[in-house]
Amino acid sequence: MKNLIEIGCKSEIGAFLVTSEKNMRYFAGFSTLAIERFAGIVIPVETGAPVVIVPKLEETKAQERSAFKEIRTYSDSENPAVVLNKVVKELKLEKGVFGVEGTLPFRFYRMLVESSNIRAEDASATFSQLRIIKSEEELKTMQKAADIVAGGIKAGIEFIRPGVSELAISSEIERTIKENGGESIPFCIVLSGANSALPHGETTSRKVDAKDVVLMDIGAVYDGYYADLTRTVFVGEATKKQREIYHVVAQAEEAAIKSVRSGIKAEEVDTIARNVIEKAGYDKYFTHRTGHGLGLEVHEEPYITQGNKTILKPGMTFTIEPGIYLPREFGVRIEDNIAVSENKGRMLSKLAKELTVI
Ligand code: CO
Repeated sequence: MKNLIEIGCKSEIGAFLVTSEKNMRYFAGFSTLAIERFAGIVIPVETGAPVVIVPKLEETKAQERSAFKEIRTYSDSENPAVVLNKVVKELKLEKGVFGVEGTLPFRFYRMLVESSNIRAEDASATFSQLRIIKSEEELKTMQKAADIVAGGIKAGIEFIRPGVSELAISSEIERTIKENGGESIPFCIVLSGANSALPHGETTSRKVDAKDVVLMDIGAVYDGYYADLTRTVFVGEATKKQREIYHVVAQAEEAAIKSVRSGIKAEEVDTIARNVIEKAGYDKYFTHRTGHGLGLEVHEEPYITQGNKTILKPGMTFTIEPGIYLPREFGVRIEDNIAVSENKGRMLSKLAKELTVI
């Protein structure tokens, strides 16, 4: 919040309007169930005293959880625009410039500008610039999220045997994650056999074979923050080719992890992983970027990809997830979560990655 005000002071922005679930969570420590009703926070730069506007039914939740205690509400029979305009007037912001999210719904935008002389400016870059650096508290939450997902994958590995379906394995992983405090599991992908060669394949009722590859890519949320981990294991045996590919992917991942430190560019981390795979002759089978930023959203800045010249700084968090996919044969991906600290990376996820044959 303090940093947002500092940025506002140096610009012509008089106030920020935050309405997205993730940014409300970030600034106020709570969010509403964002369906169609208006909810938002007006953050005036001069006084730095935010006003929260929520539907009446969310009032108690806001009182209990919001870091900002100035809360206004409206009932379903009232027009939220009236409340918003009243707040704007009280704060003497009717003629100001508002910094808003690029994803601000058009109907909310109209509520803001229609009965005033307010000009709205896209402040998305400011919001992501703040969110890209995680505090120690956020990092601890992300570590806990990673522990929970790791526990789910371990349970999945123990559950795998010939004859069980991908969906059954996925359901075992989900159950374990929820029992351990995971709030939601937006994806719990289990791919076996040739399905593992599809980087974003779908979990099906296919049953695991006596000699199969099983890839598990799981994303879950703890206290609002994401962990996103992938492991690939072998059932019955791992052929020579499978072992070779597994080791190349593991080496690429390890090399990228070792390269993480403050001052390196995001694209350089991608290059390091890519070079290992290229040297082994599998570059055309590594068809995606090395990683993506992680936090309140599962994909956010910084993207670990060619062309991203963002200089990594302490507190940035992202995935490292190289993979090799041989079409119609099998695929291997290993994914961990890492934070940047001064001279090296700090692993958020701690889960064994030795080649595992079940
Ligand atoms: Co990922």
